[in-house]
Amino acid sequence: MNFVKIYFLQSVLHSSSVQSKEINKLFGTFTVAAVLLLLFVSGLIIYICIKYKYKENDPLPKQINSNNRLELLMFLFPTIMIAIFCSLTIRTIHRVMQPATGQPEVIITGHQWWWEVYYPATGVTAANEIHLPVNRNLLIEFHSADVIHDWWIPEFGNKMDVIPGRNNHIWLNITNPGNYLGACSEFCGAQHAWMRIKVFAEAEPEYQAWMNANKKPASMPGDEMAMKGMLMFQSRSCGSCHRVSGTTSAASVGPDLSHIFSRTTMLSGMMPMNEENLRTWISDPQSVKPEAKMPDFIFSRDSVNAIVHYLTQLK
Ligand code: CUA
Repeated sequence: MNFVKIYFLQSVLHSSSVQSKEINKLFGTFTVAAVLLLLFVSGLIIYICIKYKYKENDPLPKQINSNNRLELLMFLFPTIMIAIFCSLTIRTIHRVMQPATGQPEVIITGHQWWWEVYYPATGVTAANEIHLPVNRNLLIEFHSADVIHDWWIPEFGNKMDVIPGRNNHIWLNITNPGNYLGACSEFCGAQHAWMRIKVFAEAEPEYQAWMNANKKPASMPGDEMAMKGMLMFQSRSCGSCHRVSGTTSAASVGPDLSHIFSRTTMLSGMMPMNEENLRTWISDPQSVKPEAKMPDFIFSRDSVNAIVHYLTQLK
């Protein structure tokens, strides 16, 4: 229920970035102009209907076939209005969409159906939950591993298509710290709806602390059961798709699991991260997230327990 509640909070009207403030300023101007026009036109219609209502014995009105002044006004007024709207829009585009310069803070890759999050400066890789610093101009680059996705956090304003073979970018300057929820907003297959994004916008020290914690290689198993889980993970195919830093598992087909248990949610926002959900997922992935690329390895119950126990130590 909590999940439903927080997802309803997503709103483009809660500006939380410099870019969304610009976009909302433009939206406000358009809205005011549209409301004034609506009031003017409907007021005029009502006035004319009342004033020129047909009365018995009214003479036939004077017949005219053109009125140059009126026609000029009808041409000039909309032209000027559109020219103003157009130049305001171009100004906002210039402010929001600057060309990419320098190294991106983060490269986000859309996969069916999760988000890979890579920080080039540190080499840290995460998934679905994106930590970003506030009050800084961030260049964010978007890649796709398969089909077209679309990255969108309503409070940040600008959304961006994630297109195979093309690297798109946005500039983002987050003004308010906090947690933000977004979603993939381009239909990308069966689990499009479960391609949620969570952004943790943090002050610089918190952000750096998170980065430093994630820069460290994954913890080694702390007990015998976790050791069994790690060996199982490496020998029974998990490591062919997932990476756990500091071990032999180094693939990048599925999410990086080096610090999986430090995340708050799993499967791209589908459920809270906990032991129980990890167990359900690994035991029968296709019943949890149908058509996801994670196969069912038909593990024994003991094996699942060992693997999950190992994963819970990867904080
Ligand atoms: Cu990815 Cu819709």
